[in-house]
Amino acid sequence: MNILITGANGQLGSALREASNGSIHHYIFTDVEELDITSAVAVDEIIKREEIEVVVNCAAYTAVDRAEEEVDTADKINHLAVANLAKSCAKHNATLIHISTDYIFDGEATSPYTEDSAPAPLNIYGRTKLAGECAIAESGCRHIVIRTSWLYSQFGHNFCKTMRRLSATESSLRVVCDQVGTPTYAGDLAEAIVHIIESNQLSKCGTYNFSNEGVCSWYDFAVEIARLSGNTACAITPCRSEEYPTKAIRPRYSVLSKEKFSQSFSIEIAKWQESLKKCIERLKE
Ligand SMILES: NC(=O)c1ccc[n+]([C@@H]2O[C@H](COP(=O)([O-])OP(=O)(O)OC[C@H]3O[C@@H](n4cnc5c(N)ncnc54)[C@H](OP(=O)(O)O)[C@@H]3O)[C@@H](O)[C@H]2O)c1
Repeated sequence: MNILITGANGQLGSALREASNGSIHHYIFTDVEELDITSAVAVDEIIKREEIEVVVNCAAYTAVDRAEEEVDTADKINHLAVANLAKSCAKHNATLIHISTDYIFDGEATSPYTEDSAPAPLNIYGRTKLAGECAIAESGCRHIVIRTSWLYSQFGHNFCKTMRRLSATESSLRVVCDQVGTPTYAGDLAEAIVHIIESNQLSKCGTYNFSNEGVCSWYDFAVEIARLSGNTACAITPCRSEEYPTKAIRPRYSVLSKEKFSQSFSIEIAKWQESLKKCIERLKE
């Protein structure tokens, strides 16, 4: 099977390179230099030429705060380009695995969001990602949309790497404690995606949630990152979102229910602390 990965130099794309290592299938890794997903012609051409059966779209505009100012760019990548991918997948009979976000929700819930919960994004990033999901549904292509949250890894820029660095160099840090969700180790999500492909479960189309198990605040997450990194000299104190204003409003609660995912694909999902330990070990190497 020929599998096209877009946005392959990002966190999830890099994790997919590792997770697919040794597969009998042919994974083709592309980032914007090889394949700019905003080019409908280029997308259609590669899917046809390489006889692609599965596209895993890891490409995205992920700068949540910058998106408030760069609305058109965020929309072009997270919505219009996704519509291109979906149309080409429909035309060439390929399955699209697409990654979406917890930021499509408004965070007003008090229990985990299911795949059927009503979306109501609070910021531009969330709106453009939701528009991408809708474009996929409208295209009629076979698809698996996976909504994830708080993605981190040993690759690229993310909260885990930033907190690990800051807790090693600063004597004190303040981290918001009133935004609650679940971190997702990109390695776990990549392994789950490869499992779906390799175990031939691509016909289980629909929308799914995936994050690690458990619930924490960004403050809890930061404390555990510092502890596992051995950075005990840094005093981390909780603060409220109002004390740390950002351009984009973020949901206060974005815990995702993973029941549908784990039951459908027979996958046991690790607790966030266990996976964080794996990531910190990788960062120590
Ligand atoms: N990060 C999170 O916390 C988070 C949370 C929930 C959901 N998600 C979703 O999870 C997915 C993977 O996220 P990630 O953290 O791995 O993202 P990432 O690290 O930002 O990687 C995205 C990759 O896509 C590339 N890209 C941007 N525009 C492109 C284009 N026009 N054509 C081709 N490639 C392009 C980026 O290149 P440049 O770096 O050069 O722009 C980057 O290499 C995304 O769909 C994201 O929305 C992420």
